[in-house]
Amino acid sequence: MEVIILKTKEQIGEAAGKIIAEVVKNDPAAKLGLATGASPVPTYKYLISKYASGAISFKDVSAYNLDEYCNLPRDDENSYYTFMRKNLFDHIDIDPANTHIPDGNAADPDAECARYDALIEKIGGVDVQILGIGTDGHIGFNEPGDSFAPGTFKIKLHESTIESNSVYFKNGDMPRYALTMGIGTIMRAKKIVLIATGKAKAGAVKAMIEGEVSPACPASILQTHPDVTVFLDEAAAELLTGNHAKREV
Ligand code: PGA
Repeated sequence: MEVIILKTKEQIGEAAGKIIAEVVKNDPAAKLGLATGASPVPTYKYLISKYASGAISFKDVSAYNLDEYCNLPRDDENSYYTFMRKNLFDHIDIDPANTHIPDGNAADPDAECARYDALIEKIGGVDVQILGIGTDGHIGFNEPGDSFAPGTFKIKLHESTIESNSVYFKNGDMPRYALTMGIGTIMRAKKIVLIATGKAKAGAVKAMIEGEVSPACPASILQTHPDVTVFLDEAAAELLTGNHAKREV
């Protein structure tokens, strides 16, 4: 794991964005694993600026998102389908047909999860996966538990996740279930970039980097992946005691 500590969210967005842009430059038909939430937004802003300046094109790129809420209309302002359009897809030249996200409204969630896994199986895993981390150590919506999920599955969200994400739901009725890539699906990515900022993430970040590899902190599995870059700000890094982090502040 390479751990890089930067001062601002914008610096992190630029540094993470450069990694993604490099993957796309090397392979114009790159397969990108994308994430929602506040953490990747500056990265998406950087990629949009590179597209606007003509430096990169997403014309032949395909995107595979980590997760989606269940029982939320696809066009709801809080769906991850809407999030991706608003924060990235509407501002670049990606073909909407090449953007993939689990269907949280599928009548048969198990069949939908199998369909999504088959899609990722077919491409042999994404080239690069962007991740945030939950305050409870989740990645995607893989909540702490007794085992690492091998493939995409339906999860009941934990209270801490509902608490963190309910701020976005003005009327308060946030979905309780989601479909998410499993840890096995995420670990198939050839390269992983994880972003965490703010004090609220410090405990989860410490468990991910310095704790034992355990499904009690799903992100800790990333210690066993051969190509992970973690971008942190000072607040998210404040509980780290090892000297593994490269401080660039
Ligand atoms: P955030 O969410 O980027 O909005 O903090 C991360 C996550 O819960 O995975």
